[in-house]
Amino acid sequence: MADAVVGDDVLGDDPTVKQLESMVAEMCGKESGLFVPSGTMSNAVALKTHTDPGDEIITERYSHIYLYEGGGYAALCGSSIALPEGTNGLLTPDLVQNAIRKQKGSQSHYPDGSLVCVENTANRGGGTCYEQEVLDAIAEVSKAKNCSTHIDGARIFNASVATNTPLRRMTRDYDSISICLSKGLGAPVGSVLVGSEEFIGQAHRWRKMFGGGMRQSGVLAAAGMYALENNIQRMEDDHRRAQSIARAIDEMDHVSVDIDAVQTNMVYFSANGFTASEVSQKMAKAGIDMFDISPTHCRIVTHLHITDQDVERVIDALSTLS
Ligand SMILES: Cc1ncc(COP(=O)(O)O)c(C=O)c1O
Repeated sequence: MADAVVGDDVLGDDPTVKQLESMVAEMCGKESGLFVPSGTMSNAVALKTHTDPGDEIITERYSHIYLYEGGGYAALCGSSIALPEGTNGLLTPDLVQNAIRKQKGSQSHYPDGSLVCVENTANRGGGTCYEQEVLDAIAEVSKAKNCSTHIDGARIFNASVATNTPLRRMTRDYDSISICLSKGLGAPVGSVLVGSEEFIGQAHRWRKMFGGGMRQSGVLAAAGMYALENNIQRMEDDHRRAQSIARAIDEMDHVSVDIDAVQTNMVYFSANGFTASEVSQKMAKAGIDMFDISPTHCRIVTHLHITDQDVERVIDALSTLS
């Protein structure tokens, strides 16, 4: 980061930002990329670019876009939202097809469903991954109904590594993809939105309006490039560690986990007799940070700072939870 060559990205001449944007676009098989400060802004810019006010966005009931982005789809895009409920955060082509409503033919009762979003991996699904055929089929039914397609790929590299699918194959049929550099990849800040040159040209305007244009941001982009060059394949270790924790939980009587949903670096679990917030407070006393993600469930995430020894500590603390 200290050695990064910087310019002024608001003026479009920060070479390190440009390099990062091209690198991610190339990895996804798309024409262009746009560096933004956060995953939330990346999704917001994508939704805004894909939709007009009065449109409807189709996304899963527990998706980040719906649950955790401050209602940006409504406030920033003026869109309504259709929320088919999938299994472990994952949609199916049928669910998507049935959820797309069009103004035409409805005597204007319906809004215009114009954008389908999928999340891979699905955070609230437990870090679950789409099968490639399902992703392809969702894109196909969406296109058949004239909808644009977006992947919230905050953790798409976890999905790519876990399913052994090259990124550009996974993203082939989607118009835009948002990728976070700051989650499993381990960079401190930033996301990259990719798509066609025309799409990114329009997205650039919304990034500006949302206040996401940064100046000497090459220092941040350099960390992102380091992460992409060094921290992708090692996600296998995070997945293996999450599996170890999940298997240990599965063997304990007082805690439970849906082991089939543990596919990447997350473990969602619940404890008999304790609320999730009580569990996370008890674990915090043992020096272990986790989220209570709902009244009943906690979320453990493994990442590049978590070692095999840490995994043992987590298992010990969970086994003596009282
Ligand atoms: C699936 C998903 N999308 C988007 C985001 C937003 O990223 P950020 O926290 O950088 O705004 C997150 C954050 O956890 C996420 O899990």
